[in-house]
Amino acid sequence: MKLIIVKDQNEGGQKGYEVFKAAKDANAKVFGLATGSTPLTTYAAITASDLDFTDATSVNLDEYVGLGEKDSQSYRYFMNENLFSKKPFKTSYLPNGLEEDAEKETKRYDKIIEENPIDLQILGIGKNGHIGFNEPGTAGDSLTHKVHLTESTIKSNARFFENEADVPNYAYSMGIGSIMKSKKILLEAFGESKAEAIKGMIEGPVTEDVPASFLQNHDDVTVIVDEAAASLL
Ligand code: GLP
Repeated sequence: MKLIIVKDQNEGGQKGYEVFKAAKDANAKVFGLATGSTPLTTYAAITASDLDFTDATSVNLDEYVGLGEKDSQSYRYFMNENLFSKKPFKTSYLPNGLEEDAEKETKRYDKIIEENPIDLQILGIGKNGHIGFNEPGTAGDSLTHKVHLTESTIKSNARFFENEADVPNYAYSMGIGSIMKSKKILLEAFGESKAEAIKGMIEGPVTEDVPASFLQNHDDVTVIVDEAAASLL
């Protein structure tokens, strides 16, 4: 893993943008995207730049089950607000949270990923080491699946909802195996609350207990962290 330590999230966003730009200059056509507060400064830097994605495809990691594009807490809504409305892609895929048939939806999404191999995947990381919504205990070769969210993830993500009871209990997420197929991976983490997960991911054993640790088996991973997230390394 290539580790870049920055002062704060703003500098991290600029560095993240540079990784996107380099991929685009190298002719990347499919970008795997993530939600959460972590990639926001990278999306802001992309938005402020002259990078053009109208010939590119995006494939997002995950979506809450039960939320659709008009729900302001859905990941589709988040992506529209923070990136797509300002930097449109030719096509943007996310799992469909309103599809109740999990088997059908996860198969549909796996086919999308197969037909659009991801050149660059951006990731955040959960406090418990999850990537996408791949919670501890998820197999390293998992594909898109319906996830029962852990209490820790529901609690962390409650800050985006009016109250904790509104956080959906389930999500559709690309699997760890799906993420590992990406040609290049960029993982960002900012703040002290991520320090333990970052330590486990980089220095710990490769284990289902820390899903991000599987990234040690990928040969092209760039990690951008601020000093606080790097504090236990
Ligand atoms: C959610 C998302 C992850 C994200 C994580 C961290 O669980 N499914 O993709 O990495 O939150 O969120 P944040 O970046 O807000 O800390």
